[in-house]
Amino acid sequence: MKLWGGRFTKSTDSFTDHFHSSISFDSRMYKQDITGSIAHAKMLGKQGIIPAQDSELIQKTLLDILHDIEDGKVTFDEKAEDIHMNIETILIQRIGDVGKRLHTGRSRNDQVALDIRMYLKDHIVDIKQLVFELMQTLNSMAEEHTKTILPGYTHLQNAQPVTFAHHLLAYMEMFKRDYARLGDVYGRTNVMPLGSGALAATTYPIDRRFVCEELGFDAITLNSMDGVSDRDFVIELLSALSIIMMHLSRFCEEIIIWNSQQYKFVEMDDAYSTGSSIMPQKKNPDMAELIRGKTGRVYGHLMGMLTTMKGIPLAYNKDMQEDKEGVFDAVDTLEMCLPVFTRMIATMTVNKDNMYRAAKGGFMNATDAADWLVKQGMPFRDAHAVVGRLVLYCVNSQKALDELTLDEFRAVSDVFTEDIYNAISLETCVNSRTVEGGPSEDYIKGLIALNKDYLNNIKK
Ligand code: ARG
Repeated sequence: MKLWGGRFTKSTDSFTDHFHSSISFDSRMYKQDITGSIAHAKMLGKQGIIPAQDSELIQKTLLDILHDIEDGKVTFDEKAEDIHMNIETILIQRIGDVGKRLHTGRSRNDQVALDIRMYLKDHIVDIKQLVFELMQTLNSMAEEHTKTILPGYTHLQNAQPVTFAHHLLAYMEMFKRDYARLGDVYGRTNVMPLGSGALAATTYPIDRRFVCEELGFDAITLNSMDGVSDRDFVIELLSALSIIMMHLSRFCEEIIIWNSQQYKFVEMDDAYSTGSSIMPQKKNPDMAELIRGKTGRVYGHLMGMLTTMKGIPLAYNKDMQEDKEGVFDAVDTLEMCLPVFTRMIATMTVNKDNMYRAAKGGFMNATDAADWLVKQGMPFRDAHAVVGRLVLYCVNSQKALDELTLDEFRAVSDVFTEDIYNAISLETCVNSRTVEGGPSEDYIKGLIALNKDYLNNIKK
């Protein structure tokens, strides 16, 4: 008979059992469920709600069950619906009537809210660590590339030269925000809902703050109806994870472009590429493509959860059982994508010469030529027009700006002198952008040092 079978005269349809059972996916919360139950049982004993020796036997048996699950000795039963009732059923099988006292002053509604918060807290910590390792890799790669010049693009068209360090550290900023966002989500997940009961709390003299402390939560939920029906933290986490995936996906897209035969800015290590079953010459950046592709499912889980929650009246409704598979899959996806991505970029070969050659063509220094004229006193709009005419001349004669003779420069404007060559060298273009936030080597070195402090501080 079901644990709730008292008011029923028939058992459930077996197809229905399969339909509404969640054990196939919530069994992964066994540890959180048992840890939460042990704290609850301890509190019940301390408050004299159940006899002290019963509380102790329940706690000890729950620990035995935990070990047995970990040793693979327990099989869960679909008929017992979910992880909560599976564990309670096993407890009752082992210690009979004493086990039946565990669920005093508690509902599965506050129990599941507790379990999912505990489960996600653990995984937020893991994912923060993976983002941390990625940031460390980015910052140390940047350190090696403060002089590596490559084209900067807007509209994927040649724009202005930057350095590879500057480019990498743009991603560093994104992942710093991601790290902070995960911390925010953690804070709002770290609130203890047990004691909310089914929805209207309980008449037993329970001690919620004791349970809160036992389980390492920061605070308790302040409204029992909200306590059982809040899944904002799931949505916030899915949102933070979606943004991380979006960042990884953009970076993967760039790597895929850079790794192409047309660019050859980077080459993926053999360990992070795959071949083609038909074309022998192929070495494909599959890992980057797969990470870009997996972004879709994480976004999907965010939209799924927002949609599941939008029409639910207070308080708990079974719809909310749908909170788990999506967020579990999102967490699993991040826990795979982040380390693969970090290792993939750490092992790729950076072809500095190809990057430099690409930055040389394409008139990336045209803005700097115009700025030089402005510094000689010409209004910017006029300077823009002069350089525009020079570029047109270069396109027609298939030359780069810095390949023009001084006579060719002066044919368009007599303001030009020999100094123009130094002003439009790629090194000058990059390193005279000393403004904070810019690509100059001096500024970037300072930023790398700041990032090191930041990484050391969050490690503590
Ligand atoms: N398996 C359920 C869930 O994941 C647990 C809570 C069920 N409560 C209930 N009264 N049906 O949401």
